[in-house]
Amino acid sequence: MCGIVAYVGPRDSADLIMAGLKRLEYRGYDSAGIAILDREGRLDTRKRAGKLGALAEELVQHPIGDGGTGLGHTRWATHGGPTDRNAHPHLSEDGRLAVIHNGIIENFAELKAELVADGVVFRSETDTEVAAHLLARAYRRSGDLTEAFRDVVRRLRGAFTLLAVHQDEPGVVVGARRNSPLVIGLGEGENFLGSDVAAFVEHTKRAVAVGQDEIVTIRPDSVEITDFSGGHVDGDEYEVAWDAKAAEKGGWPWFMTKEIHEEPDALANTLLGRTRDGLVVLSDLGDRLSDEVLAGIERIVLVAAGTASYAAEVARYAIEAWARVPVAVELAHEFQFREPLLDERTLVISISQSGETMDTLVAVQHARAHGARTLSVCNTQGATIPRESDGVVYTHAGPEVAVASTKAFVSQIAALYLVGLHLGRIRGALDDATHRALVDDLLAAPEKLRAVIQDSWTRIETLAHWMADTHSVLFLGRHVGFPIALEGALKLKELAYIHAEGFAAGELKHGPIALVDHGQVVFVVVPSPRHSAALHAKVVSNIQEIRARGARVIAIAEQGDAAVIPFADELIPLPLTGPWTEPLLAVAPLQIFALELANAKGLDVDQPRNLAKSVTVE
Ligand code: M6R
Repeated sequence: MCGIVAYVGPRDSADLIMAGLKRLEYRGYDSAGIAILDREGRLDTRKRAGKLGALAEELVQHPIGDGGTGLGHTRWATHGGPTDRNAHPHLSEDGRLAVIHNGIIENFAELKAELVADGVVFRSETDTEVAAHLLARAYRRSGDLTEAFRDVVRRLRGAFTLLAVHQDEPGVVVGARRNSPLVIGLGEGENFLGSDVAAFVEHTKRAVAVGQDEIVTIRPDSVEITDFSGGHVDGDEYEVAWDAKAAEKGGWPWFMTKEIHEEPDALANTLLGRTRDGLVVLSDLGDRLSDEVLAGIERIVLVAAGTASYAAEVARYAIEAWARVPVAVELAHEFQFREPLLDERTLVISISQSGETMDTLVAVQHARAHGARTLSVCNTQGATIPRESDGVVYTHAGPEVAVASTKAFVSQIAALYLVGLHLGRIRGALDDATHRALVDDLLAAPEKLRAVIQDSWTRIETLAHWMADTHSVLFLGRHVGFPIALEGALKLKELAYIHAEGFAAGELKHGPIALVDHGQVVFVVVPSPRHSAALHAKVVSNIQEIRARGARVIAIAEQGDAAVIPFADELIPLPLTGPWTEPLLAVAPLQIFALELANAKGLDVDQPRNLAKSVTVE
């Protein structure tokens, strides 16, 4: 949700910032802008509504001066529509200070009223502009940008990453953050700031995450971090584990195409090195999540949003079965308002690809404040959620750039399975032989997934192109197939803008079956008959029920499932696998279908309308 990049150093910052914005565009793409302190010491800005291409075009028409200090922003609108005027940066009245912002300043209305009463004329409808005016006024008092930040951040409520440059301080960018991400990139004679490391990873892999309520001042040869009161902070430097190439399209038509193809590796990398003698061992979860503590946990709550919440729903079945502990899944944004019962014997596990989703972060903070133990399942090194949790299990999916989550989803399920197996072992709920068999099944899943992706793609592409005019698609599943149905529907909504609903197949007869009419397309995720004949039989009955009402059934079923073949208008076969790895294989065809339907409709697969990759507002 809004991408931020800043640079100080000897290079031409405009090109460098535009390249950084290109890498961050997935965070928001309704408008973009840059501010440069040029070599003559003037502050200049360019900004445009629309995707980054519009700003690039503007820079061709009206080039901006060269200079070694600059910042850039790609926006996902909250306050004020996506117009040129509302695009960031926002300037102070005298035009000497430029600000970019990610987040929401919740008390902006009262701050704006105060400024208006004082004669300030606002030029945009954004909450951000109040920060520009407040910083300019504070700067006039102290003559120091960092000091001005200290003054102003104390007055802001809400979530913000705020960056500014001032014409009178060339070679300086100051940033502050609360509940919104900011990472420093450490270079040689140059330094960077970014919403995430993608902003600068092609220039340096040395990074420091700016902590909660901290201010950072970067110059070409120095980086200084302080808390909001001015106290010195030692940042923890880490090395970015992936290189710039991992976040490039590399010849694929879309990032999403690439990322679906990367799923087998994402899955394998998440499992890599986490077993000993065939058993899962998570040895570095920290003191608050020691084996002794986890053995005494009485309840687990999984908190997440969107796709990550469906990964949680899949894992709920497994963790409860293996660790014999009650598991609930809560949408992160509902969690705190429900005033959940929490204590130190409750383990709250958050699941987040970005590690910055504000709803999930707030849920984690709420859990901690009420004494619960917190574990993060996250794909982003150094992100806020793992840093604010007692422990972390990283998914090693590599950077996910397409807005629609794909490889992160399968690796989240895998990481949660690891947690479930770990808990099953230390709680004595799972015997070693069963544990080893489950691990074997998991380790075999990446190659089976590779085969599903390779074998089914062309067929699904044809299907999707036939269905380019479809207005409604339903998805059904039971047990771990149910969240897969939900995920299939979400993918279709977000990418192809088609009405899509996922249902537990058993729920259909309680109302939703009224939606089924002649020609209604229904995807059905069918469990293997080898694992539970009863479950399988129920799903086959559900298929009969919808076919009797005219549905067109697309079944995702185990190869050779004779009970389904006669009733499926289309069959997407899956290789034989265990019951817990079925969802990992079944989701890929649904992801491919959504991608190809969006393609067939000529839509932007990687950047669907109204969305952003990392949702850092509540
Ligand atoms: O970064 P997170 O995993 O916390 O993101 C959570 C959701 O916003 C995300 O999964 C979203 O639902 C995806 N766009 C779905 O494809």
